[in-house]
Amino acid sequence: MKDIDTKTLSWDEWDELQRPAPATTDFDAVVDSALSRRGFLGGVLAFGSGAAVMGTGLLSGTSAQAQATSRFGFNAIPIATDFTVHVPEGYTWQPVAKWGQPLFSDAAPLNQQTGVDLASSDRVFGENTDGMELFSIGGRQVIAVNHEYVNPDINLPHTGGETTSADDARILQNMQGVTVMEVAEGANGWDIAVDSPFNRRITQNTPMTFSGPAAGHPLLQTAADPEGMIVLGTFNNCGSGKTPWGTYLTCEENFNGYFGSTDAAFARPDDYVRYGIGLESRYGYEKFDARFDVSQNVNEPRRQGYVVEIDPSDATSTPVKHTALGRFKHENAAVVVARDGRVVVYLGDDERGEFLYKFVSAGVYTPGGDTSSLLSDGQLYVARFATDMTGEWVALTPQATGMDAAEIAVYTRVAASRVGATTMDRPEWVAVNPVAIEGYCALTNNSRRGADATNAGGDAMQAVENSPNPREANRYGQILRWFPDAEDHAATTFHWDLYVMAGNPTVHQDANAGSANINEGNLFNSPDGMMFDSSGLLWIQTDGDDSNEEGFAGMGNNQMLAGDPVTGEIARFLTGPNGSEVTGLTWSADRRTMFVGIQHPAAPFPDGDGKLARSTVIAVKKADGAVIG
Ligand code: FEO
Ligand code: CA
Ligand code: CA
Repeated sequence: MKDIDTKTLSWDEWDELQRPAPATTDFDAVVDSALSRRGFLGGVLAFGSGAAVMGTGLLSGTSAQAQATSRFGFNAIPIATDFTVHVPEGYTWQPVAKWGQPLFSDAAPLNQQTGVDLASSDRVFGENTDGMELFSIGGRQVIAVNHEYVNPDINLPHTGGETTSADDARILQNMQGVTVMEVAEGANGWDIAVDSPFNRRITQNTPMTFSGPAAGHPLLQTAADPEGMIVLGTFNNCGSGKTPWGTYLTCEENFNGYFGSTDAAFARPDDYVRYGIGLESRYGYEKFDARFDVSQNVNEPRRQGYVVEIDPSDATSTPVKHTALGRFKHENAAVVVARDGRVVVYLGDDERGEFLYKFVSAGVYTPGGDTSSLLSDGQLYVARFATDMTGEWVALTPQATGMDAAEIAVYTRVAASRVGATTMDRPEWVAVNPVAIEGYCALTNNSRRGADATNAGGDAMQAVENSPNPREANRYGQILRWFPDAEDHAATTFHWDLYVMAGNPTVHQDANAGSANINEGNLFNSPDGMMFDSSGLLWIQTDGDDSNEEGFAGMGNNQMLAGDPVTGEIARFLTGPNGSEVTGLTWSADRRTMFVGIQHPAAPFPDGDGKLARSTVIAVKKADGAVIG
């Protein structure tokens, strides 16, 4: 690790360094193993198996059929490999909020040479925009948006990206977390409403409270917080969620990477190993801030890795970490109300071989009623999939796990392993269809899936035929779909299929060709962000290999596509700048603007040559002002 410049790695690549795979499988070698299973995929794929139908004409038949009934209000665009954004003809885009853009008039604007200064670093739009939700509050439009991590090379230009002081650490801590900002559309398009009373930065030092089974538990107590009830900050805020009662959910993903030890002899407890907490943090916080030094504060990492609820209507409100929703690398939180009014939250744990979860509240949601316990009191379940295309949600109870409720909340991965949960290909976003009783999860990829592989808990991670994770060394990813039995999201059983298996039919003839709804015109890899629009179209964002070479030839830059759940048709709507991830999606109150996140562009974007690369939320509109979602 010392010999590698880790600053430009993705979090997934960084995690890989913490827990190296015993052996990597060469991409081409996958073909052999996949070929031996030709044909079996047909059963689990909603729109047929690419491996089985490639070259039979079925592929074009599917596309033609879909075209005749297309619900997309755009013509699909080609791939791009350049350094800007492209949208379909008849659509426009513009930047709305860029890293370093002031939320308050007392913040200094970003300086192209020196970046953002310490005093302004928690008064500006943060780094690496990710999940977001728009709230309509008293006729004003307020976006809550995550800042997942930082790009130290850009954020600390005076040190070349190294954290050399407590001030440097504080700048980085301030650039992450969450922004709450009012946005308004004027003559020049959408912009931040500077100094709005809704504007707020929540950082890695903002005080918040705990709720749920682990609140106040000894595992959450520290010298600075002996009651285990007040924690500072939220970490690696990835995907998002929105409750029916108008609050924002921000999800702590790779929290493990913020902690290290100044004592090289510190012996990592077992739970540190399962959660990937090492002896050296990614940004060196532990050298300047004792809170992040696990040799002094062993419980501090156990206070991170939760779903955090924020009230965007009150800039003075205290965020709440909900331990009832479990502790793991939370991707996002998809909230839906079940038939009887209980609140269901679907949750993914984005690491190779980790699990898909569901929380069901004890109480029921009543509009205008008391919602204070709905995310603190309930039952957490984990998914177990069978090869007959059924599955069950297994309750993580003390009886089933041999752990008490607080331990289940803090060591959730361990509890899930004990009940035999299905190891998944990195669950990213979950999305719930608003016009059908079904859920979707982007299983982004899992290059390590194979016969001898395990997750960090030792659970087997072989490729299982007729399972949601059927491919060895899965480099392309797939989107899983489930249909709750009795059409009730609170049901503990379901049926499932694969909505799409990404792949490359121009390169492969086997399972790596992907499913029949993948064709030369809509190639992509590594589905990640996902959100339904109000009409029931599924918007898919990617965070994958944008080399456009070899197995990824013809896929271009990361992108956003629309998927029709009924026909299986998938069409490319937007392409991001090279190097960026397209992540985060929400709509204006009138649904005539779509806000899309462009995270970590590799080259100057959106300001142009000679300028800093800035993660940016853009607004996409149809030129005729029509509804786009
Ligand atoms: Fe932050 Fe799993 O994406
Ligand atoms: Ca993601
Ligand atoms: Ca990802």
